[in-house]
Amino acid sequence: MKQRTLLSTLLGAVALTLALPVAAQAPIVIKFSHVTTSDTPKGKGADQFKKLAEERTGGRVKVEVYPNSSLYKDKEELEALQLGAVQMLAPSVSKFGPLGVREFEVFDLPYIFDSIEEMHRITQGPLGQALLNKLDVRGILGLAYWDNGFKQMSANKPLKKPDDIRGLKLRIQSSKVLEAQMRSVNALPQVMAFSEVYQAMQTGVVDGSENTLSNIYTQKHHEVQKYLTLSDHGYIGYAVITNKKFWDGLPADIRGILDGAMKDATKHANDIAKKENDDALEGIRKSGKTQILTLTPAEKAEWKKAMVKSHRQMEERVGADLIKAFYKETGFDPNK
Ligand code: LMR
Repeated sequence: MKQRTLLSTLLGAVALTLALPVAAQAPIVIKFSHVTTSDTPKGKGADQFKKLAEERTGGRVKVEVYPNSSLYKDKEELEALQLGAVQMLAPSVSKFGPLGVREFEVFDLPYIFDSIEEMHRITQGPLGQALLNKLDVRGILGLAYWDNGFKQMSANKPLKKPDDIRGLKLRIQSSKVLEAQMRSVNALPQVMAFSEVYQAMQTGVVDGSENTLSNIYTQKHHEVQKYLTLSDHGYIGYAVITNKKFWDGLPADIRGILDGAMKDATKHANDIAKKENDDALEGIRKSGKTQILTLTPAEKAEWKKAMVKSHRQMEERVGADLIKAFYKETGFDPNK
């Protein structure tokens, strides 16, 4: 009896010693920084990844989500990721040009996608993967593409025809293709961080901007812009990225679980994106703060004709072959 008690005490002590290092280990922390609010497609995708990653690793991984530029603004967040100060981001695909990966700006070509399905042929196919692979040499690993939606134009005057935008200062993301797109209609592109747009609109530093409905609504741009034109002239989506060294250094079992969590969070983010944008339009409409303008097919055709000129101009920057490969996949015809 006494012996058994001693044995079980010893076994208990061994078990405790073995368990201790695991229990005492601090969780692996993933800082996930992004620039939109939590109630956007990207914000909800990031929160879903956090939930799944923490649940499935039983707390061995802790994901800290920092939304709405609370940690870093656009350009700074990419630098922070490369330095290892944050481990995960989901910048819009328009934001890799300044990092030297100009090919990503192909996504910014106006009218290149007619539908989300066309865009998915790229992001869920070999072309999308080949683009993500280009980030490797920058110390970045591309994990997934997340959807947002089509861009609309907002301004303090009604934009119905390309000539209406002439001479207006329009905020754009940092992309040479977007610069060329704005110049093709004689607007004056102003590169600016996302978090600064509201104030720039309020103070008249810019006259307008282009963005998705969910971004316009959650950043309250509609409260400081008189008009919103439903133009669908371009697209904003995201590349979810991590610091490659960090990811490769994770224990293999954890990395496997996180890959699965990312796959499922991606499905979630992409499933809700369209509804988020539809709901945002409803919210903007209900607010009554901005006048929503729709375009007739003839007006749409005019914008397209004017803006598509920028495709040719950008061949040298993003690659003529890449543009052709996009055309082939999406069925885009520059002459139509
Ligand atoms: C923008 O800067 O307008 C967007 O990239 C913001 C975002 O992340 O959706």
